[in-house]
Amino acid sequence: MNNTPSLPLEDELGDVLDKAMRRAGITPEALALRTGVALGRICDAVDYRSDLSCDELRRLAAVLKLNEVGLCALGSGQYPQPALGALPFSVWPLRMPHGIGVANAYLVGECGSSRGILFDTGAGIDALSAVWPPAIRSLDAVFLTHVEPEHAGGLCDVVAKFGAPKACIPDGAVAPCGQGMGEGMSARFGGLEVTAFATPGHAAAHNCYLVKSGTARTESALLVSGDLVFAGSVGGAFFSHEKLQANLRRMLAMVPPSTIIAPGHGPLTTAENELRYNPFAG
Ligand SMILES: [Fe+2]
Repeated sequence: MNNTPSLPLEDELGDVLDKAMRRAGITPEALALRTGVALGRICDAVDYRSDLSCDELRRLAAVLKLNEVGLCALGSGQYPQPALGALPFSVWPLRMPHGIGVANAYLVGECGSSRGILFDTGAGIDALSAVWPPAIRSLDAVFLTHVEPEHAGGLCDVVAKFGAPKACIPDGAVAPCGQGMGEGMSARFGGLEVTAFATPGHAAAHNCYLVKSGTARTESALLVSGDLVFAGSVGGAFFSHEKLQANLRRMLAMVPPSTIIAPGHGPLTTAENELRYNPFAG
């Protein structure tokens, strides 16, 4: 499948520095003292006016425990977006404006089939209908990565409209029409296998879903990552920095490197790319 080269990353350098300072429990003033980078230059970077040099970014990365190669790439506007391998099934990224941003849902279906599996519902049935591919006319299941308005809008409407018999949500989450799916639980729909992994951090109840072919002889897979990991960044750790970090490492190490990551925001990427460059993956 193809990536969209012009699709912007979800997070800029300023977002990454802000998240990393929160993770480290360090203020900009303390960071300036420990790195020798001027406080004003750090604040400018956090406010999206960065002209930090790679040397300065390396010093920030060392104190904030970030991948310096990825941070420098981000700082120079050249974060790598990888070529994506082929998958033995079809994937439709459904990008929906929400507030000032864009949230992604994903439809997956066997090649040539009119049935699909939906991961997240976006802001609601209207937003989803506007980007829905005509090839898919019914759903076998809906899976939610986490229950937030930009990812889980109109779940019952979607279930009713497309006749999905199942709506799976992370264990511990609360959503109408949803039933809990916990760590390691799998479901099979024709030739597609979906396995849930509990990945709290961004939210207390958050799942990633690994989608594989149950019949094709390939390790190619899709990891629907919600707000655990983005290309070049991670979701906000509103529940737990430690758990988000642990689950980020666990998931990137667990899946084959060629696994395509389908995040809740921003472009598609691969496990290999994020292991190599994601500032938080060190
Ligand atoms: Fe989100």
